[in-house]
Amino acid sequence: MRKDTPLGTVTVAVVLCLVCSIAVATAAVVLKPRQERNAELFMQRQILKVAGLLEEGKSVDELFEQVETRIVDLDTGGYAPDVDPSTYKQREAAKDVALSRPIPAGEDIAKIKRRANFAPVYLVRREGEPNLMILPMHGYGLWSTMYAFLALAEDGRTIKAITFYEQAETAGLGTEIENPRWQAQWKDKLARDEQGEVRFELVKGGVSADDPDAQYQVDGLAGATLTANGVTNMVRYWMGKQGFGPYLAQLDRGGE
Ligand SMILES: Cc1cc2nc3c(=O)[nH]c(=O)nc-3n(C[C@H](O)[C@H](O)[C@H](O)COP(=O)(O)O)c2cc1C
Repeated sequence: MRKDTPLGTVTVAVVLCLVCSIAVATAAVVLKPRQERNAELFMQRQILKVAGLLEEGKSVDELFEQVETRIVDLDTGGYAPDVDPSTYKQREAAKDVALSRPIPAGEDIAKIKRRANFAPVYLVRREGEPNLMILPMHGYGLWSTMYAFLALAEDGRTIKAITFYEQAETAGLGTEIENPRWQAQWKDKLARDEQGEVRFELVKGGVSADDPDAQYQVDGLAGATLTANGVTNMVRYWMGKQGFGPYLAQLDRGGE
């Protein structure tokens, strides 16, 4: 066949398109399981990091055996034994009308619009006793939804660590929420008071040591107060009655 005819050009273009689309489609299908596995490993790594269990040179799979994933029914605060923790995806559930509900505007302080009915919690035990619980949370900053894991001590009040693993705030301003030196200030701050009320907040201008509320406060981020307000609201929402509040209340009453 002569290639320098209109029919030849079209044929070559069509064949090339077909070959390329088959190659792209095959790559997408073949690589999908690997991408999903990598995404799962990424999340497990973040959970290990916030739990202080990440050890270089050890496999994430092996380290993650120390973590027990359970699914919480956020409305009742009890565990949901029928939901499989290995397949439940909170972010997808939040988009599914059957698995989530809209948050009334007045209560949507984290600005996330919908909330999935169930959420995972990650429990770390030491010598058989509950030692840490890791709660996933997300909330809107200035430009983006920020995703985090918060590690709480077994009292359900004391923060042990925070990690933000996805956000798109401005580099050098809002993205300072990923700065480990700033995150280190969260350690041993209290999220809730003895009555269970969420008191945690980031404060503009720094925490004053003689403020009686200093135990609930972390320095805000200079020049990024709007992102910082988003972080405060995220913690308050997810620790509050719309979020893990009922679950934490059950733990306060001695449940496990
Ligand atoms: C281009 C641009 C990007 C900004 N990005 C952020 C941001 O990511 N987070 C934030 O809180 N403020 C950001 N700001 C600043 C806010 O508009 C606002 O001034 C600031 O949050 C107030 O914080 P301050 O009271 O600590 O100065 C940005 C401002 C500009 C002009």
